[in-house]
Amino acid sequence: MRLHKYIANCGYTSRRRAELLIQAGRVQVNGKVLTSLGSTIDPEKEVVLVNGERIQPPTPMTIVFNKPAGVITSTHDTHDRLTVMDILPKSLRDRGVLPAGRLDQDTEGLLVLTNDGDLAHEITHPRYETEKEYQSIVSGSPSPENLGRLEKGVRIEGEMTAPARIESVEPVGSATRVHIVIHEGKKRQVRRMFETIGHPVLQLKRVRVGGLRLGDLPTGEWCELTKGEISTLRGT
Ligand code: URA
Repeated sequence: MRLHKYIANCGYTSRRRAELLIQAGRVQVNGKVLTSLGSTIDPEKEVVLVNGERIQPPTPMTIVFNKPAGVITSTHDTHDRLTVMDILPKSLRDRGVLPAGRLDQDTEGLLVLTNDGDLAHEITHPRYETEKEYQSIVSGSPSPENLGRLEKGVRIEGEMTAPARIESVEPVGSATRVHIVIHEGKKRQVRRMFETIGHPVLQLKRVRVGGLRLGDLPTGEWCELTKGEISTLRGT
């Protein structure tokens, strides 16, 4: 395994920062300082020290959380806003569990938090095309042509979105409930997609990531995923 990836998987820091630590000569493998970014290790056999301290992978833990609107998906906030980590038990933080991806402050619904770096990468990196399904209440009544535009891809801030899928469309009073599936994570993507067709999002909730559905988990509640549920999430 690549050394920088192992350091990140141990929950020490991000992959990028791990590369910086390696280059800065802060990482030792079996007592030898390694500064090459291409270094690989055998985690079963080799001892890794960062800043003189032995690091080891944590016992894996993955939870699903029904994020309420009003909190931000971050580990800390420079503007003193409440984060998801503030409203989850400290024991999860102690296990190194972190959000895999993000939901806007105003968006609620399914958020996976894990200390498994590979799983977090699969959920968030566009290369894996992990599907995310959102239940959006949008203003007015979007025409089939406009919803078709979203499915093909629209330009937001100079970039085309990847094809999306509209799963269902249902009127709710003067608004419309649209289930949309995307597999990217551009900033405020769903909101900006609906803005391009002139039907702003009034309420947004993520209801599925990969094969895992939010189901009837109440808002603000969380539960640990079993191995089977993690397989469902991965679609394996
Ligand atoms: N798209 C959004 O607009 N917001 C989210 O939180 C997630 C996807």
